Amino acid sequence: MVQVNDSYLKLKAGYLFPEIARRVKAFSEAHPEAPVIRLGIGDVTEPLPAACREAMKQAIEAMGTREGFHGYGPEQGYAWLREAIARHDFQSRGCEVSAEEIFISDGSKCDSSNILDILGAGNRIAVTDPVYPVYVDSNVMAGRTGESDDGGRYGGLTYLPITAANGFVAPLPEQPVDLIYLCFPNNPTGAVATRDQLQQWVDYALAHDALILFDAAYEAFITDPELPHSIYEIEGARRCAIEFRSFSKNAGFTGTRCALTVVPRGLTGTSASGEAVELWGLWNRRQSTKFNGVSYIVQRGAEAVYSPEGQEQVRALVGFYMENAAIIRRELAAAGLQVYGGEQAPYVWIKTPDGLDSWGFFDHLLGKAHVVGTPGSGFGAAGEGYVRLSAFNSRANVDEAMRRIRAL
Ligand code: MLT
Repeated sequence: MVQVNDSYLKLKAGYLFPEIARRVKAFSEAHPEAPVIRLGIGDVTEPLPAACREAMKQAIEAMGTREGFHGYGPEQGYAWLREAIARHDFQSRGCEVSAEEIFISDGSKCDSSNILDILGAGNRIAVTDPVYPVYVDSNVMAGRTGESDDGGRYGGLTYLPITAANGFVAPLPEQPVDLIYLCFPNNPTGAVATRDQLQQWVDYALAHDALILFDAAYEAFITDPELPHSIYEIEGARRCAIEFRSFSKNAGFTGTRCALTVVPRGLTGTSASGEAVELWGLWNRRQSTKFNGVSYIVQRGAEAVYSPEGQEQVRALVGFYMENAAIIRRELAAAGLQVYGGEQAPYVWIKTPDGLDSWGFFDHLLGKAHVVGTPGSGFGAAGEGYVRLSAFNSRANVDEAMRRIRAL
């Protein structure tokens, strides 16, 4: 009989967001009259920027002609998109990242999971707690962890608690680790790291021959000009970090799918025989074998983000969501709640009131205000006692959700 991957049986529960969707569906079936507002999953709601739509329309028309038709594209992405990204997102901020080091993909969730393909099973892994669940679950699925304990923590992982006391920026690990997942601006807490804090991580990684997996999917939401957007703004990061970025949140591509991963040339890991091996070559080989690239049409849409109109439209879109975040922060603070994040990130991290636990406050918000949040405990044991609200929604829904919560 065929054998299953037993590692999947170690997974604690369903993936967080489908689990929330299941509970909301059950609530809506029991209360069909309740107008539910979803501030749970971080999915965008506003229309695609006009520049992206126009570029995709033109690409579709081109695909209908013999001259403009495109079959398989390069697995790494088209050079014109990789060059635009290198110039606008990295070189303009002083980062030494070339087009060749950029790999276009269909999502940061996929890339941050798939990267495990090129990394050895013996790596000691550090994640923050709370954490974007994909980093943990993908390691569980790949058999890189032990069983989970009653608190949902998996054996073999080093958990770095991020709390109000440390500003939600992880402390350096006390025992040595080889692989470190960092996400700034942070999902779920909305925290950001300063240049000095990132420098400490890069210095740690260089000193311990560790690799940082840096998720910068929310970098467009940074408004403070002093804060770094990319790990490559930090001295030495090219020798110890891979960065993930996405068009999902800045340009509304969650349903369109386009993202990128930067693997610097010269960044190495060690083979079982002790040789230094370039990670770029392994990732290139992995993508060429297992991935056929993002569609030509979508890549043309992503390229349009870098046109002058695209830049303006994306700035407006990000500004719109950040205004939502400001409203959420202001209204919840006025309601007497303790709020964090939401200033350089589209997520607001809220301390649950009245001794409620995360699911208790989730149920309270859903049952009484018909507002869906995300229970902090779903992101890890140290997220207990918090709920995350996402700023990705229409203004009317955000205003109405805040009115209902204040009325509570
Ligand atoms: C979230 O709500 O955390 C997002 O949906 C994460 C993601 O983009 O996968």
